[in-house]
Amino acid sequence: VKFKKGLRADEEIGSGAGTAVSVSARPSAPSVSGPPSRAEPGTPVTFTCTSGGFSPRDITVTWLKNGAPLPAPQPRVLPEHESVSYSVSSTVGLSLSAGDARSQLTCQIEHSALAAPLRGTYNLSQVLRVPPRLRVGSDPAGPVARNKSVTFTCRVEGFYPQGTSLSWLENGNETDPGKPSRPTENPDGTFTLQSSLEVRATEQRNQSVFTCRAVHDSQPPVSDSTTLRVSLLPAEPGKDPASSDAGQSLFSSPALWIGLLLEKMLTGAFLLFLFLRGALP
Ligand SMILES: *[C@@H]1O[C@H](CO)[C@@H](O)[C@H](O)[C@H]1NC(C)=O
Ligand SMILES: *[C@@H]1O[C@H](CO)[C@@H](O)[C@H](O)[C@H]1NC(C)=O
Repeated sequence: VKFKKGLRADEEIGSGAGTAVSVSARPSAPSVSGPPSRAEPGTPVTFTCTSGGFSPRDITVTWLKNGAPLPAPQPRVLPEHESVSYSVSSTVGLSLSAGDARSQLTCQIEHSALAAPLRGTYNLSQVLRVPPRLRVGSDPAGPVARNKSVTFTCRVEGFYPQGTSLSWLENGNETDPGKPSRPTENPDGTFTLQSSLEVRATEQRNQSVFTCRAVHDSQPPVSDSTTLRVSLLPAEPGKDPASSDAGQSLFSSPALWIGLLLEKMLTGAFLLFLFLRGALP
């Protein structure tokens, strides 16, 4: 409306249809949140992406996992009525896998006030938990000769995150903690470590059960066990038990040694007799 200054009041000169003024406001950087605690592979988990302060209300939210789009339901834009600015919230559900220690989730926002999309990221390693697989082996494998030493090895494979505490049990009782190695990282980002325990295969330990127990990420323990079998045969280095048997019983017989000694004495006496006979006229 255009006015002219009058003496008592302003006088209208003319008016038009007017011009619509729109406010364009950029959305804030998207923030991605995940589940409150870690989840194991195969468990469905949800993630939420939020952004606010934008206008007009039209906005596009896209989810990507390692760069590949994920199907997600329509985002929720609030408030529902006309407003100066709006906020958005989008959720996506996905099932974790053991290899997700290196995966990244991205929430991408496109809006008319933006020259380029805005992105918020979330590392899936933050919420992933892969329990370890345990395997106990022994060296030597099979029965161990009495009083020889045997080394039990526990392989703790493919766990995430890194924190794992190991213990050894003998017949259910905690024993020497053994020698755990430093965890090594696998190509998929999970970890593997091993621990060994050396014991003497005494007769009392025959049929003893040795258990390796792992407590990972404050979860209930996982374990694997093996039974020590002590063989009756004493170990003879360099001889295999089957063939050493006969020879051993012969050489360990006292009669054989007495026989050998008697033979030496008789020979000595005979030689002395011959010498004395030859020396005397
Ligand atoms: C385990 O340890 C307890 C206490 O040290 C002991 O009394 C018990 O006999 C042990 N059990 C076995 C099976 O060795
Ligand atoms: C250990 O136990 C097994 C089975 O009971 C038996 O055959 C073996 O002779 C035992 N070994 C010793 C050294 O006692």
